[in-house]
Amino acid sequence: MHIHIISVAPELLDSPFAHSIMKRAKEKGLLHIHTHNLRDWAINKHGQIDDYQYGGGAGMVIMCEPLVNAIEALQKDHQFDEIIYMTPDGDTFNQQAANQLSLKGNILIICGHYKGIDQRIRDHYITKEISIGDYVLSGGELAAAVVVDAIGRLLPGVLNDETSALTDSFQDNLLAPPVYTRPADFKGWQVPEILLQGDPKKVADWRFEQSFERTKTRRPDLLGDI
Ligand code: ADE
Repeated sequence: MHIHIISVAPELLDSPFAHSIMKRAKEKGLLHIHTHNLRDWAINKHGQIDDYQYGGGAGMVIMCEPLVNAIEALQKDHQFDEIIYMTPDGDTFNQQAANQLSLKGNILIICGHYKGIDQRIRDHYITKEISIGDYVLSGGELAAAVVVDAIGRLLPGVLNDETSALTDSFQDNLLAPPVYTRPADFKGWQVPEILLQGDPKKVADWRFEQSFERTKTRRPDLLGDI
């Protein structure tokens, strides 16, 4: 999968993809991340990419010209399945959205900054608007990193244990059950006996019950009308 990201601060995106699972996904050739600096399409030699907003008010707005030139330059070489704008007023990101995006081959993500991008770009180029939650970040880069990480780990072959993404929280509208590792007794705190007995059916039933109880207490909204 190829993910292109346009940003005014692409350095912010270096570290999130340089370690751990995302690093492995890139090394295996399963995930290709291409960052682009919007200033490469600045409208003048001062590197201008934003301007004051019409109607007045604090905060700069990313202009149409540099961003459209950037998008169209990339479109010459790539056919994007989605052009996504990261914004706090977008659709709230969740596991289902991550699952759907992980099936795409080529995605372009635009990171906003300051007051955001000119509405006309949203109207004419953007196919999806994504928020990672009801709070405002200083730019879309960290949000884009969250989205790319959530997608990247779902790509076949990225996780070592192929089944582990399936048992993540949210995959069945259930939160994940508690997990334990050695020792079985730590300071007198015992691992639940059922996990030590080696009966896979009993373990599966116990995990389901735990998931269900946890979801009922912490996130009853996920259970809907059950
Ligand atoms: N840019 C700023 N805040 C954001 C958020 N919550 N989600 C996505 N992009 C953003």
